[in-house]
Amino acid sequence: MIYVTRRAEFSASHYYHNPNFSPEENRRIFGKCHNPLGHGHNYTVEVTVGGEIDPLTGMVLDLKGLKALLEQEVIQSMDHKFLNKEVPAFADKNPTTENIAVEIWNLLAPKLTHGKLHRIRVYETPDLFVDYYGE
Ligand code: NI
Repeated sequence: MIYVTRRAEFSASHYYHNPNFSPEENRRIFGKCHNPLGHGHNYTVEVTVGGEIDPLTGMVLDLKGLKALLEQEVIQSMDHKFLNKEVPAFADKNPTTENIAVEIWNLLAPKLTHGKLHRIRVYETPDLFVDYYGE
């Protein structure tokens, strides 16, 4: 098995809250991130696909195709969006980096035609990232 990773960037805003928490709990647990007017991040996502090298092409998959899929499924739905309000998956779920990684997995996994999705890594800042392996 060999692994290929494609990276892309997007900017989005979000805030954190749980309607089942009291106002004090929301403030205590989410702190500054609880401001409903939101704040932004420049996210970096890395998509890693594992597979075997096709001896005819020397490649695991078409990297242009992976770039296009990432653009079409992820960047177009999340870039410059207020994630809580504009991405249906986050209507009732906090758009944390963890949940963003899971959502990106769910968007991409069914659409990959070659190789197997191995990992989604999402950087919220250059020194903070989340890895999701599909379970
Ligand atoms: Ni944030």
